[in-house]
Amino acid sequence: MNILLLGSGGREHAIAVKIAQSEQCGQLYIAPGNAGTAMVGENVPLDMSDFEAVGQFVVSHHVEMLVVGPEAPLVAGIADYFAETPSLKHVMVIGPTRQGAMLEGSKDYAKAFMMRHGIPTAQYRTFTADTLAEGEAFLATLESPYVLKADGLAAGKGVLIEPTLERAVGSLREMLSDHKFGDASSSVVVEQYLSGIELSVFVLTDGSHYLMLPSAKDYKRIGEGDTGLNTGGMGSISPVPFADKEFMKKVEDRIVKPTVRGLRDEKIGYCGFIFIGLMNCGGDPYVIEYNVRMGDPETESVFPRIKSDVVELFANAAQGTLDSCTINVDQRSAACVMMVAGGYPESYEKGKVMSLGTDAADVRLFHCGTKLGPQGELLTNGGRVICATAMSATLPESLLKCYNRVQDIHWDGMYYRRDIGQDLLNLMRMD
Ligand code: AMP
Ligand code: GLY
Repeated sequence: MNILLLGSGGREHAIAVKIAQSEQCGQLYIAPGNAGTAMVGENVPLDMSDFEAVGQFVVSHHVEMLVVGPEAPLVAGIADYFAETPSLKHVMVIGPTRQGAMLEGSKDYAKAFMMRHGIPTAQYRTFTADTLAEGEAFLATLESPYVLKADGLAAGKGVLIEPTLERAVGSLREMLSDHKFGDASSSVVVEQYLSGIELSVFVLTDGSHYLMLPSAKDYKRIGEGDTGLNTGGMGSISPVPFADKEFMKKVEDRIVKPTVRGLRDEKIGYCGFIFIGLMNCGGDPYVIEYNVRMGDPETESVFPRIKSDVVELFANAAQGTLDSCTINVDQRSAACVMMVAGGYPESYEKGKVMSLGTDAADVRLFHCGTKLGPQGELLTNGGRVICATAMSATLPESLLKCYNRVQDIHWDGMYYRRDIGQDLLNLMRMD
């Protein structure tokens, strides 16, 4: 069957590689894609927010499956558009409906969903400009540090963690009264701070049944030792060493099962991925956030470990028969190191000529912000540019392979963190 994958990052390159390996995959199109996805399928210059244009392409190219990489088209209702359009409703869409996508599109909606279904998460209250004074009073009942979250999508920047009550009150005012994050902060969730170690758990669901995908941990800050500004993610590892059987059973019983049951009971149309951001607080998992897509760069270490045919899994998810499937996972450890443009996540230049060096066994490069220039030369085209994923029997070995490989990659101004996975290796040494 012909498949269209929406997106242009490393996540989409990693998903595209797995889709292309399936015997069920005919032509694979990626819109808009990058220089990496162009090696796996055919890039198509579609604007994914233009549902009509996407739909026309799907009809004219006999596409039978649409896989949606990023959240924006889902929050805007692309799955609903396909379901409601007679010429498209037969297409299998991997991605939730607009209502399902609210789990990521509105923090308040997600928190209320968790409360309704008894899913462990930080205590919270939601405030608007009209209830600013109550918000300030609520902050005063909490202890430092203070967590403030813009309700809507804010390009990953909408969460503030403030060290003092004074700064928290100031930020709450800026978000609600001065529209710091535009409409996204017309409501603000104020919640209790959770201290622990973060990890990400991924689920593929058809809305009633689910499969657990490998767990992962990403590294969000730009600087070594988790310092400096937040980024889209500077690397990832999978599996997470501390997420052992006992912990994952708690995650499944306390979080995954009630989440999927909640979607089913509330008749929220959901075929796709649920990315659950978790905090491990002394051995107990708490939900920090839901995302309605795979993570980036978590996908770059999770997807290479999936041995099953992903197109078959996706088709079963679309048909509501995921209970007939199992997932086969490579037991080796995967690590991914992200290389970024100098200056990222603040302003940076694009269009730098890249050299990728020599291929290495067991290491795969996933392109993020890259494109081909007029002479076919590889150019940078984003902040996060390219990442190296390696798999080995142990985490230290896979990290070593990644770091050997990235040393062979060059462009003017490139940067990468040299300490991906180190926190976990230190933790393992302490055990
Ligand atoms: P989010 O955009 O919801 O992923 O939040 C960004 C980051 O803020 C998370 O990855 C956590 O590191 C942190 N964070 C969010 N909520 C909390 C919380 N309640 N307690 C501690 N850290 C949090
Ligand atoms: N790596 C975090 C995310 O994809 O949201």
